[in-house]
Amino acid sequence: MSNSVSYPTYQENIYPAGRNDLIDKVKAQVNQGRFEHILRVEKKALELAERWDVDAEQASIAALTHDYAKQRSDEDFLAVIDQKKLDPDLKNWGNYLWHGVVGAEMVHDELGITHQDVLDAIRQHTIGAAYMTKLSQVIYMADYVEDGRDFPGVAEVRALAFEDLGASVGWQTKHTLEYLLSKNGRIYPGTITTYNEWSTK
Ligand SMILES: [Fe+2]
Ligand SMILES: [Fe+2]
Repeated sequence: MSNSVSYPTYQENIYPAGRNDLIDKVKAQVNQGRFEHILRVEKKALELAERWDVDAEQASIAALTHDYAKQRSDEDFLAVIDQKKLDPDLKNWGNYLWHGVVGAEMVHDELGITHQDVLDAIRQHTIGAAYMTKLSQVIYMADYVEDGRDFPGVAEVRALAFEDLGASVGWQTKHTLEYLLSKNGRIYPGTITTYNEWSTK
């Protein structure tokens, strides 16, 4: 694990205006603290991408956009759920789910990003999914273990993400479930699906 990471020059036509332009677009959507988190997620995603042979440009774009919609209003999300005829059950949940699942639609429509693996990584970054590409796993884990995160076990799971990516996905999902249960939180059924696939091997 190196302390420095090399940032890709975008060449795949996923976001032709380039990385600096994308950073400006994201910065305009979120507060300073969220923006700094997003840059740390990109750094961690690039470290993990190098380790796991994931395309660096796709990792950079997915990381920079994963929380693009985090600070949008509930009204914005509800409007997009209607416009795009997404699963109406989504309306029973909240920002935690929406900023990924509905946020991917906003990234598609507002930034013109149509790359399906990138959009799926955004969609899946909070709740995971039964099937996740390596890119989705990298974004799910980078969000959880970026260098600003501090919670019991963070060093252990940060190391695990570089040793066994799938096991680290399971670790995160199990701990998220434990946390929600301990707080009497509502549990989105998709989180259970992710748990069954990744945490019980
Ligand atoms: Fe997020
Ligand atoms: Fe995030």
